[in-house]
Amino acid sequence: MNLTFDERLVAVGTGIRTVGQLTGEALAWIKRADKVLYVLSDPVSERLIHDLNPTGAESLQHFYVENKVRREIYEQMIQLTLGYVRSGRVVCLAVYGHPGVFAFPTHESIRRARAEGYQARMLPGVSAEDCLFADFNIDPGSAGCQSYEATDFLVNRRITDPSSHLILWQMIVLGDSTYRWQVDSPPAMRQFIARLTQQYPPDHVVYVYEASIFPGVEARIEPVTIAQLGQVRYTTMSTLYVPPCVAPRADLQLYQSLGIPLG
Ligand SMILES: C[S@@+](CC[C@H](N)C(=O)[O-])C[C@H]1O[C@@H](n2cnc3c(N)ncnc32)[C@H](O)[C@@H]1O
Repeated sequence: MNLTFDERLVAVGTGIRTVGQLTGEALAWIKRADKVLYVLSDPVSERLIHDLNPTGAESLQHFYVENKVRREIYEQMIQLTLGYVRSGRVVCLAVYGHPGVFAFPTHESIRRARAEGYQARMLPGVSAEDCLFADFNIDPGSAGCQSYEATDFLVNRRITDPSSHLILWQMIVLGDSTYRWQVDSPPAMRQFIARLTQQYPPDHVVYVYEASIFPGVEARIEPVTIAQLGQVRYTTMSTLYVPPCVAPRADLQLYQSLGIPLG
């Protein structure tokens, strides 16, 4: 792919399984950039980035330190990215998944670069949610789908519909603003279970989900009741999928007046 653009900053996603989910345009930018700053979830992907751009690849992983405030980690990543942009380099910010899905440093780097007059853009990638739809064989069009960061869902009293699919991200840092690698029970789990049981029965089965990051390896799909959520191990890859527990409350009059068949 031949790239003749004026972009100075491009955020790309490598997919959840880099081998197989890296798009052609992301690959082209990784090769073309002067600097490829990356946050990836496995050594195979890192190796691939270095093979594609041996002189420009630089990991941002060292900013992640256990217990460090996440905002501080993100700010350091953004500062480094903008520093390279200002120095005249073409920068590719490569993160796993989709670069715009639960990824603050990519959005913020683009915002700030544009505010300083540089051309910057984001390319779509395959997110964990895309993998979830495939692995669970569910279509968000069938019942609607709500997707929240788990702490945001809890502390901002998000209004959810138990007749829709519900996806809760970043379970490992539920109620915690610092970086964690793995925990047995996030600090706000008690309040989280209480919140869910306002709308779902405690024995409703939900799933701790970790999409496979390597071809040929199965996803982690661990069924657990809502009441048991405090007894599960969570990692940086854990997403919670809550299936619907009730049928939607249909407006029968409207069905009839619009001539929509009940089904
Ligand atoms: C900072 S976000 C990054 C999301 C990523 N940009 C994407 O497009 O999927 C991290 C959260 O994504 C979810 N996640 C990351 N990897 C995952 C995987 N392999 N399977 C399921 N969820 C994953 C988890 O909820 C995790 O806490």
